Amino acid sequence: MSSTYCFLIQFILNFVGSTAADTVENNLFHGKRSDIPAPYLPTECMLEIFKHVQAQDSGLYSCLLVNRYWCKNIVPLLWSRPFEALSTENRYKLIHTYLACLDREDYLNLSSSLQSYNIKIIEIRQPLFNYSMYLEEFSYKQLEIAVHSTIHIWCNKTFINNHKQDQILLIATTLCKLFMRRSISLKSFIIDKYFSHSDIPQISTFIEQPGLSHLTRFKIDYCKPMTTNTIKLLENLPYLCSNIRCLDIKFPIFEHNHKAISRIISTQKCLNEFNLSGVRIGSERILFSLQSRHETLNIIRLENVYITEACFNALALCKNLKDLSLWYCRGLNIENTSVLLKSKFSLKKLRLGFSPICSDVAGLILQVGGISLKELEIDLINSIIVETILDCCPNVKEIKLANYFPHDNNYLFYQLFFGLSLENLEIFINSKNLDYEDMKLTGQDLPPSLKYLKLSCGFTIDQFKELFKTCNAPLETIIIDYVDLNYDHIKVITKFIREKKTVKTLGIVGMDDMTSQGIKELKMLKKRYGIFIIPSYELNQW
Ligand SMILES: *[C@@H]1O[C@H](CO)[C@@H](O)[C@H](O)[C@H]1NC(C)=O
Ligand SMILES: *[C@@H]1O[C@H](CO)[C@@H](O)[C@H](O)[C@H]1NC(C)=O
Ligand SMILES: *[C@@H]1O[C@H](CO)[C@@H](O)[C@H](O)[C@H]1NC(C)=O
Ligand SMILES: *[C@@H]1O[C@H](CO)[C@@H](O)[C@H](O)[C@H]1NC(C)=O
Ligand SMILES: *[C@@H]1O[C@H](CO)[C@@H](O)[C@H](O)[C@H]1NC(C)=O
Repeated sequence: MSSTYCFLIQFILNFVGSTAADTVENNLFHGKRSDIPAPYLPTECMLEIFKHVQAQDSGLYSCLLVNRYWCKNIVPLLWSRPFEALSTENRYKLIHTYLACLDREDYLNLSSSLQSYNIKIIEIRQPLFNYSMYLEEFSYKQLEIAVHSTIHIWCNKTFINNHKQDQILLIATTLCKLFMRRSISLKSFIIDKYFSHSDIPQISTFIEQPGLSHLTRFKIDYCKPMTTNTIKLLENLPYLCSNIRCLDIKFPIFEHNHKAISRIISTQKCLNEFNLSGVRIGSERILFSLQSRHETLNIIRLENVYITEACFNALALCKNLKDLSLWYCRGLNIENTSVLLKSKFSLKKLRLGFSPICSDVAGLILQVGGISLKELEIDLINSIIVETILDCCPNVKEIKLANYFPHDNNYLFYQLFFGLSLENLEIFINSKNLDYEDMKLTGQDLPPSLKYLKLSCGFTIDQFKELFKTCNAPLETIIIDYVDLNYDHIKVITKFIREKKTVKTLGIVGMDDMTSQGIKELKMLKKRYGIFIIPSYELNQW
């Protein structure tokens, strides 16, 4: 984020903090006008700024109260993703507000249907704004959860409800219809389920216009067998939209609606990003259809997918592919993978997860990465892999090591990091894995070109001290994503920052629960050394 934005946001937040309450109170209760005018900026600027304010907890709510102009700009933002991170009480309020947006006829129909369950919905007057219009991202699971909370409150929390799933479906159907008719901005649609025994609304609900016609992102995330209406929706999607850019499909292994998926792929003319997870038998049908999008596809991520030679052939044709991820896929043998060597693409980013697979396949795929490759994520390092990277992918500047880290054979890491003039290094170890205690990474392993270091793993305080004490790399950015960080770790970093004077940016996950001592230390770094401390809501973008 540029410093101008930071400044403006700070200005607005200060403004909101110090005067908004007074302004509103004066205007509303005393009929007085505040002396300080709220800043006026063109709508585009306001929106850009508010988007950043939005990322901070409840920041935007106070902005709502400033004046009508601010309010008009903020309501669409707040209502674009209203289901995210709500308390039970707020889910109830949200559903009530949406119910108030219903057409009279639908409202009466729903309330008479609910009466047969002895549920009476309170009449609410038409709200000021057409809230349902602003919805941009919809997840069926989030709707189910919100409706469930609402019913729970209606029934006074004690009532044992035998028809809960029917009631949820009834209300969800009415609300989906509302969204399909009103949400002119609906761009992202996620079909997932919280209650796996009930179905989603019938297909007739989703063919209302404008409905899904503006979708650019579609995701299906199922771990249970797919329901009848979900399958119907998948089959109908090609008739409802044609501008999906990002498609994300997660199936349970035994599912086989591959024909519908390949129809979706071949009808979306701008398909740019494709994720597929959990397809074994019949993956060929889906992957084969990627050929039809060979001009537009930039990103392909396959996880837990069985890949045959024909699939690799289809991948090889995607000439604009820049970012490829093969994570724990099956069928990766030298014979079938080697067709990738004929590929027409130049990758910038490659993510390889193998564990059970032999390193000759890894070597082969790295060869495909070649000189264009800049970023690499990998979960296996051995001498063949290091050699191949140094020979074939000499321009890699960023490496993420996933669940594989320097231990005894440190020379390999030294060779790799120094051989590449590495600039960015991330070490990730799953937090459930205590192996990090065996990690031996010292500052001397880090090349003199390294500018960015992200540690998404545990560290004993001794490892941590050793790493920073011996580090000569001119680090500019340090990010520590480790839950059990304590004050001693912070002190080690502070010492490094004070002595090396190269660090400009520091990010620490879990900053919100830091002790006052830790916070004081960070404030000092900011004030005395001009260090930019990345706000926690922004950390995953760094
Ligand atoms: C009223 O609701 C029922 C089921 O809930 C539905 O079948 C019917 O089509 C609805 N009627 C109108 C006019 O929307
Ligand atoms: C919301 O929009 C719908 C359809 O465009 C319209 O019928 C309804 O009156 C609007 N409601 C408000 C409160 O503006
Ligand atoms: C829940 O309680 C309210 C008042 O506390 C009452 O009016 C309502 O009928 C109750 N609802 C049910 C389903 O018991
Ligand atoms: C595809 O997967 C990646 C990594 O898990 C994720 O960041 C991205 O949002 C996914 N794409 C879509 C369209 O959901
Ligand atoms: C290689 O691909 C062919 C089909 O393209 C498939 O029949 C064969 O089983 C694959 N080999 C392995 C070892 O997966």
